[in-house]
Amino acid sequence: MLLGIKSRRMVLLRYVVVGVFAGISFYMGWWLNSTWSADMRLWKSFGVGTFALLWFTAVIGPAAVVWSPLMTVVTWRRETGVWFVVMGMVHGYLVWDGWARWDVASLLGFRYAPELEIYLRAEPGFGLANLMGIVALGLGLSLAATSFDKAVSFLGISTWKWLHTFTYVIFYVAVLHAIYFAFIHYTPSPERPGAVYPANPLRFVYVGALLSVALAQAAAFFRILSRRRAVGAQ
Ligand code: HEM
Ligand code: HEM
Repeated sequence: MLLGIKSRRMVLLRYVVVGVFAGISFYMGWWLNSTWSADMRLWKSFGVGTFALLWFTAVIGPAAVVWSPLMTVVTWRRETGVWFVVMGMVHGYLVWDGWARWDVASLLGFRYAPELEIYLRAEPGFGLANLMGIVALGLGLSLAATSFDKAVSFLGISTWKWLHTFTYVIFYVAVLHAIYFAFIHYTPSPERPGAVYPANPLRFVYVGALLSVALAQAAAFFRILSRRRAVGAQ
């Protein structure tokens, strides 16, 4: 858990700093979603906080390859990774408890039809988006479970680093999850053709986040390639 940082006080301070960043992102989500009911506003805001932490964790590595002054902040991925998992668990739990009401079929987009006594497929997009959220959180939890000192020394640094490359899988799955809710879920449907919902205030932020990570990864790839070719030519 202390990998690379010796003072416990410093570690604690860094968790507090990232906790404040998580709180600010949460508050931004809360403030921007003022028209929603309190329960929806709460799980949306935890979603925003979770996403902000994940974005930082994913973008900072490749961005630092392209622009070396960012190297000073890459070590913060430990704290942002931990806070991401904590916020993500709360976000997921609130949806499970408040929206799906502890019913797997509802979480997967099915609705019970009492007259037929079966579940009908009602919102398959919602079900798939929730599955993506679950996959992102599940992978995040596996990274958390393998990031403690004992686990790291058992795995060895290179295996541990390989596991951490799953951060990008988590990011791309989670960003599609967010984009579904921002652009698709709250639109008129055959069941409710007249429904009008407020546009998601962060919808283009999610698209920007997706592009920023993809571009940073592409730029880092070409930077590393050109360095290797330069060394090879010598
Ligand atoms: C840990 C990875 C996850 C991330 C990064 C994440 C992120 C987000 C984001 C950014 C939003 C959109 C918030 C908004 O602007 O309205 C959202 C919405 C949502 N998420 Fe997640 N989520 C994650 C996991 C989950 C899980 C595990 C579930 C299900 C149990 C879930 C269910 C939902 C639902 C139902 C919404 C729609 C909320 C609404 O519009 O009222 N998410 N999530
Ligand atoms: C209990 C949870 C976690 C702990 C204790 C932890 C710990 C650490 C530590 C000690 C480092 C090395 C920091 C450094 O570069 O000095 C690190 C790096 C990193 N963490 Fe985590 N982490 C956790 C969860 C996560 C999660 C959930 C993610 C992904 C969303 C993540 C993504 C990363 C990434 C991308 C790196 C850089 C890896 C590399 O150098 O190749 N971490 N983490």
